[in-house]
Amino acid sequence: MQQKPIGIFDSGVGGLTVLKEIAKLLPNEDLIYLGDTARVPYGIRSAETVVKYSIECAAFLFRKQIKMLVIACNTSSSLSLEVLKKRLPIPVIGVIEPGVRAALKTTKNEKIGIIGTEATIQSEAYTKKIKSLNPKIVVISKACPLFVPLVEEGILEGIITDLVVERYLKDFKNSGIDTLILGCTHYPLLKRAIQKYMDGIKLVDSAEEIAQETKLILSNNGLINTKSDSGSQIFYVTDAPDRFKKIGEIFLNHEIKNIFKILLEGEK
Ligand code: DGL
Repeated sequence: MQQKPIGIFDSGVGGLTVLKEIAKLLPNEDLIYLGDTARVPYGIRSAETVVKYSIECAAFLFRKQIKMLVIACNTSSSLSLEVLKKRLPIPVIGVIEPGVRAALKTTKNEKIGIIGTEATIQSEAYTKKIKSLNPKIVVISKACPLFVPLVEEGILEGIITDLVVERYLKDFKNSGIDTLILGCTHYPLLKRAIQKYMDGIKLVDSAEEIAQETKLILSNNGLINTKSDSGSQIFYVTDAPDRFKKIGEIFLNHEIKNIFKILLEGEK
């Protein structure tokens, strides 16, 4: 079981921010990544559709004999974590709880901001989790739909990015929050632009937190891979491997090899 890979899925390329952190922290683990690029974005879809797509992604990875599943997508984690936990006989984790725990450790004044896709913000998954752990926390949240296409186009800094950041984050500026959760896979790539505007505010990147959580769960379950050579990385996408490779290499900062196009159950 220890030799088996970890499965990671996202609606597209964004979950590579999570894969990158897991690979950094657990360099000997074999990783299988699935990006549902034919059906991205999940963030503008109904809860029912996101759950359906997530079940299909999880089923595909489970057939690859994974020992643990990491839902890298915030939208999918918000809406389908409980369903997938019930369906799979292996540990399943999502990005919401690790992000929330990090934010609770970070905030001093108990005022936290959350940004994410429409579906993530509408689900209130982050707010509910925060309130369940500390009902006194004041939470302000906002959907920032243009951030995903900006990142996918590689427009990470400059005038356009600054204007979009200002448009979405204006309300947070004088709200008194001291911590902002980047509740979407793509947002860590906009960290510099967001930090410049939200000067003095601590940004919480759930990718780093979920990597820590993955390590903890593997070690609690005796599932850490003890081999000494570096882990492999295999990538599956449901559409346009070339585009995934091009954008993915910006995310990972290294070449993507071993990429395969597949069809998920619902696409057949
Ligand atoms: N991966 C999604 C998330 O983290 C962002 C892209 C999408 O909308 O599918 O919420």
